[in-house]
Amino acid sequence: RSVYHYDQVESTNRTARELAARGVPDGTLVVAEEQTGGRGRMGRGWFSPHGRGIWCSVILHPAVNPMDAPPLTMLAAVAVARALRRTAGVEAGIKWPNDLLVGEKKICGILTELSAEMERINYLIIGMGINVNIDRHEFPPELREIATSVQIERGRRVSRVHLLQNLLAELEYWYRIWEKEGFAPVLACWKELNVTLHRPVRVFTQRETWEGWAEDVDADGSLVLRLPGGEYKRVVSGEVSLRA
Ligand code: BTN
Repeated sequence: RSVYHYDQVESTNRTARELAARGVPDGTLVVAEEQTGGRGRMGRGWFSPHGRGIWCSVILHPAVNPMDAPPLTMLAAVAVARALRRTAGVEAGIKWPNDLLVGEKKICGILTELSAEMERINYLIIGMGINVNIDRHEFPPELREIATSVQIERGRRVSRVHLLQNLLAELEYWYRIWEKEGFAPVLACWKELNVTLHRPVRVFTQRETWEGWAEDVDADGSLVLRLPGGEYKRVVSGEVSLRA
């Protein structure tokens, strides 16, 4: 597997995109010590201080329809959650579709970007940001109440290399399972690790906000909400607030 390691980039997703467009092997990893323009979901940024986290992107070439991309992002969430548990003893839960939380605070975010043509994915970039050795006071004030790190949760620093090695092993393991058996086994594991289901939630989509009961996640990764009137609503992409 090829690994591109940088001291500083604007965004590993952006660098990965440039590499993917030039053509690199499946599973290529881009990792940086620092991002000057780390990107988050919904047009937000991602705090990525030097040497303090795992800021990385994996380039994949899954032979599927772009509609199958959400399950792959959920697969990455499973891999990060398991790596955090195994190497750092951090019991992170997954908030649909792919935020990792400890309690109510975010420890990892995942941003997937893809290039597709004729209903086929050319390449998929799975960008993962894990807050590892960041102290509470190092977070900007606006993040202090909503973000956490491995160091904060464990009270000590942990090896980023060890965590990254484990993460890559988990990613590969689940990706092979997904290739052979499809999304079902991955989804079963996602459900075991999730903190979203069977509770009242508020969901923000591009245009609307829905309030309801998080009933289930279906076979393509959509969130199934039961609305107050009793009808069901499938949400393909959006942001969940657990404080409904
Ligand atoms: C989110 O908003 O939750 C997603 C955050 C994703 C951050 C990671 S850090 C590595 C990769 N490069 C980026 O610019 N973003 C992702």
